[in-house]
Amino acid sequence: MSLARDVKAGFAGRPRSLPPKYFYDALGSRLFEAIGQLPWYRITKAEKRLLRRAAPAVAGALTGPVRVVELGSGSGEKIALVIEALRARRKTTVVHVVDLSAAALADSLQRLAKIPGAKARGHHATYEKGLLEATHPPRGRGECLVLFLGSNIGNFDPHDAERFLASVRRRLRPGDALLLGVDLVKPERTLLEAYDDPLGLTAVFNRNVLLRLNRELGADFDLAAWEHRAVWNADLRRVEMHLVSLVRQRVAIPRAGVVADFAAGETIFTESSYKYELPDVESLALAAGFRRERQWIDGDARFALTLCRAIDI
Ligand SMILES: C[S@@+](CC[C@H](N)C(=O)[O-])C[C@H]1O[C@@H](n2cnc3c(N)ncnc32)[C@H](O)[C@@H]1O
Repeated sequence: MSLARDVKAGFAGRPRSLPPKYFYDALGSRLFEAIGQLPWYRITKAEKRLLRRAAPAVAGALTGPVRVVELGSGSGEKIALVIEALRARRKTTVVHVVDLSAAALADSLQRLAKIPGAKARGHHATYEKGLLEATHPPRGRGECLVLFLGSNIGNFDPHDAERFLASVRRRLRPGDALLLGVDLVKPERTLLEAYDDPLGLTAVFNRNVLLRLNRELGADFDLAAWEHRAVWNADLRRVEMHLVSLVRQRVAIPRAGVVADFAAGETIFTESSYKYELPDVESLALAAGFRRERQWIDGDARFALTLCRAIDI
């Protein structure tokens, strides 16, 4: 990953943009954990509820020994639920956690170390590179289970989501499994409260990326001159996060070779969170080379956890 290169590319377009993966420095990862505890951000709690219900069935559907890989594992709380269920069925498990955040990776490895018999390895890498490392060398007997949870898939545009899952599929063998967590479309007000919470934590999470650019690239963002904004784009079915310049200002980002002028009201686009309808989840999986095997739905929070199987491609 090159922060400088990505910032330069993102600032060359209009609106200017930053990839969401850069939210997760050590503070960003802590802030994300805190957001997960807010009553308005229901993804984390709903998915943990579903996993508690689903984990025994997921474990039962796999023939050991099992290699479990989580892409963007965060604190590792969710993968731990799956590993515990595999352990309860005495399935030998090799665990790989992949995350760009060193802080998140350390948390998940620490958590997994407490589970007897779970041999965990961390990959401080992008999803793609981490998956490559985790599935090499090719395995002998048993299946591979890839977890892609937290609706991380929602950060991809639909076309890229399909391309990404297809690239995951190509690293797997027919019969291997994917457990995919996807947030569903819900009323606008509920969505906006999740991404612009009344306590202001999501605003801090969003603005923290500017602090990161100041620290790592020598930028001179004045944080008081930037405001968080979340909007529901109904046509594209995504919540967008932006940073809004409150004044006319010039910002220098020396280590990215960027000097940027902003008008008052001009924005930096920091994240898309696409929301899905249930049939879209199945068609996305199928287009990428997976068939839906089982699905668990939290009707209250409108969140779906889907166990998929890699099909012949
Ligand atoms: C929204 S959090 C979700 C964490 C966890 N999966 C959960 O459901 O609670 C996204 C996590 O993925 C990591 N991440 C984001 N983009 C990534 C990328 N392109 N490659 C690797 N990790 C990434 C972040 O560092 C963060 O820990």
